Amino acid sequence: MITIQNLQVAYGQSVVIPDMNFAAKPGEILGIIGRNGMGKTTLFRSLIGMIPTKSGKVTIEDREITHDRSHQRVGKGVAFVPQGRMIFPYLTVYENLISGVRGRVSEEDTCEIYALFPVLRDMKDRKGGNLSGGQQQQLAIGRALMTKPRVLLLDEPTEGIQPSIIKDISRSLKEIRTLKHLTIVVSEQVLSFVLDTCDRIMVIEKGRLVREDNRADVNAAQIRAMLSV
Ligand SMILES: Nc1ncnc2c1ncn2[C@@H]1O[C@H](COP(=O)(O)OP(=O)(O)O)[C@@H](O)[C@H]1O
Ligand SMILES: [Mg+2]
Repeated sequence: MITIQNLQVAYGQSVVIPDMNFAAKPGEILGIIGRNGMGKTTLFRSLIGMIPTKSGKVTIEDREITHDRSHQRVGKGVAFVPQGRMIFPYLTVYENLISGVRGRVSEEDTCEIYALFPVLRDMKDRKGGNLSGGQQQQLAIGRALMTKPRVLLLDEPTEGIQPSIIKDISRSLKEIRTLKHLTIVVSEQVLSFVLDTCDRIMVIEKGRLVREDNRADVNAAQIRAMLSV
């Protein structure tokens, strides 16, 4: 489980996230939806340690990570699938998969990823840059899972991906959650994906969480209106 308390994140003097609070439980898929520029990427980059945290506290399963370096956070069970996927185009699919693993790579672990995403096994010796957008997204998720996270963060995973593949990604995330009892936090602009995938949905506006609903209680029209302002 991940807990965020009074988190403040800024670029120099420019405060993007003034005071954020939320928690997500093991086995839960939490969606954070918001328009461009609302602070989704800033939030995720701070949670994985790519941007320093100004103040507040972030804990993973009761261990504080607020001021840890990224690799220490990964060691404590956080994994990140960045916006735009950021796979290594000149490395093979296999090399991409193992690129985040510190220490020995077990064949069992790679097999587990290939079972989730069979196309990655078929293409394991191909260069990452030759994959389609959807395949690259599967690779980015597989690479994150190779570090055996307890909390998986995904920043706008559907960006630039065709609708049929978006459905596959939604299905994979739900399967991963069930298999591994992970906490998944996913940011999005696409409401349909969030409605298909998430157990709970929060709306982010100007770095603040302004609305929260359980999936069963979501009023899609109201959220759609908030996204189109
Ligand atoms: N490196 C940066 N330096 C200064 N301001 C930034 C930087 N990156 C993003 N911002 C600003 O932070 C705000 C949130 O951006 P971002 O987190 O990328 O939003 P989102 O991911 O929701 O589109 C925007 O106003 C953006 O202009
Ligand atoms: Mg973003």
